[in-house]
Amino acid sequence: MATRVVVTGAAGFIGSHLCEDLLARGHDVVGIDAFTDYYDPRIKRENVARAAASPGFRLVEGSLTSLDLTAALDGAATVVHLAAQPGVRASWGSTFEPYIENNVRATQRLCEAMKTIGGMRLVYAGSSSVYGQTAELPMREAHRTRPLSPYGVTKLAGEALALLYAQNYGMPAASLRFFTVYGPRQRPDMAFHRFIRAGLNGDPIEVYGSGTQTRDFTFVADAVAATVAAVAYAGGDSVFNIGGGSRVSLNHVLDLLGRVMNRRLDVRFVEPQKGDVTHTFADVSLAQRELGYAPTTSLEDGLAREVEWVDSLYRRFGRGVG
Ligand SMILES: NC(=O)c1ccc[n+]([C@@H]2O[C@H](COP(=O)([O-])OP(=O)(O)OC[C@H]3O[C@@H](n4cnc5c(N)ncnc54)[C@H](O)[C@@H]3O)[C@@H](O)[C@H]2O)c1
Repeated sequence: MATRVVVTGAAGFIGSHLCEDLLARGHDVVGIDAFTDYYDPRIKRENVARAAASPGFRLVEGSLTSLDLTAALDGAATVVHLAAQPGVRASWGSTFEPYIENNVRATQRLCEAMKTIGGMRLVYAGSSSVYGQTAELPMREAHRTRPLSPYGVTKLAGEALALLYAQNYGMPAASLRFFTVYGPRQRPDMAFHRFIRAGLNGDPIEVYGSGTQTRDFTFVADAVAATVAAVAYAGGDSVFNIGGGSRVSLNHVLDLLGRVMNRRLDVRFVEPQKGDVTHTFADVSLAQRELGYAPTTSLEDGLAREVEWVDSLYRRFGRGVG
């Protein structure tokens, strides 16, 4: 059934794809975004342009920490809360403040507004980072959560707030714990984007650590399909792993990328970064069963799509954008 859906973080990587998908399904979409400068806001303007051209879309520009949220949420059945300050590395030290503001305080303010209005469903963008460093693989929703970075701590706090409001105020909520999402529009700070940019420019590719670390990579259309299913979900489960079903090492990704780009990549291994876990691997059986989730895009196809997009981005905006 088509309804009004509010998408926070609508101009971001995942949010902009989600808005387009929801609009194509006939939903009315209200997108909220503050166009923060963590990466170039020109990229975010372009991300959201296709959705913005649809008559079913309205953009509310501003921060969840200061907007009149009861007005912005008016008439909506569901809020998909993707807005956040992402990135593990910048969450250490003096740059921690935006993580508290945008991941914790913004989520609390959103939950308060939803409580006041009543009758709305919340889908929260959780993260595999909540699990932290663990030998228990694959990661299951019931596993202990002990984040390895300040970013992970704030994503876990946001998830806990969403579930807390759900429990206390009968506001249905689900958290989707995304495992490394990639594809067109991927953030410039993320590994694949950095690797592709360096490869296109003929620059050295810096890999943190030995490249033997593994990740469960999720193509963005698969993450969006899971989110759309969670919008319609009426069952009782509230936390779902969303992984891509292709857990591979970074060295494997680099081999594949060299083949997809048809060039020799100049790979240099540098110091591992604090906060990066060694392995992620999602058990997605709950999402499969409850949300009908089935990732369909192979890593090779997904990488090719991202290479095409990064190439066109740098052709249009120049190499300085990021
Ligand atoms: N990309 C991934 O691999 C991944 C993995 C796990 C979880 N997630 C989560 O998914 C969500 C989306 O991630 P993304 O990669 O698309 O990030 P993104 O940075 O591209 O998108 C986030 C958007 O939120 C906006 N925003 C930030 N703070 C805001 C605020 N206070 N008010 C309004 N808008 C605000 C930003 O301007 C940005 O456009 C985030 O919650 C992130 O933690 C992403």
